[in-house]
Amino acid sequence: MAIRPILHYPDKRLRNPGKPVSDFGPEFQQLVDDMAETMYAAPGVGLAAPQIGASLQLFIIDVATDDDQASDLRIFANPEIVELHGEVLYEEGCLSFPGVREDVVRAERVRVRAQDRHGNSFELEADELLAIAIQHENDHLVGKLMIDHLSLLKRRLVHRTLTRRAAEGAAAE
Ligand code: NI
Repeated sequence: MAIRPILHYPDKRLRNPGKPVSDFGPEFQQLVDDMAETMYAAPGVGLAAPQIGASLQLFIIDVATDDDQASDLRIFANPEIVELHGEVLYEEGCLSFPGVREDVVRAERVRVRAQDRHGNSFELEADELLAIAIQHENDHLVGKLMIDHLSLLKRRLVHRTLTRRAAEGAAAE
């Protein structure tokens, strides 16, 4: 297993939509393992394949954030959100937006269809943090980012902060 570098906004690759997963073979298994290791090391509760430069319809989530909770790793390949209910405001972060936390409006409950790491189809109804994480990660698969959900003013502020930071990082190399 290996930790993969996470792309940070404003990296344009984060805007690439993911292609459907069609091969659940060893390369895919390796990718899923690497994504899990990368997410846990960060640490984060979710990671989408485009965030590590893999243009695939794939994300992983583990909302068992407390140290005393057993891990609850869930793999979503080729996901499709089929139902959305209610509305909730939640302060979100994203591993591609280091240091940024902003309120985003999401549906309170979702029903999602996806395939697990072996390609088996499943359907899941989720609420609370899992529902929010599913919507956030699913956005990544179409190149949509948390910044797109913010007001124009906040969008400009976050854009400016992270663009400056990226420029400083590039200059330091
Ligand atoms: Ni994210």
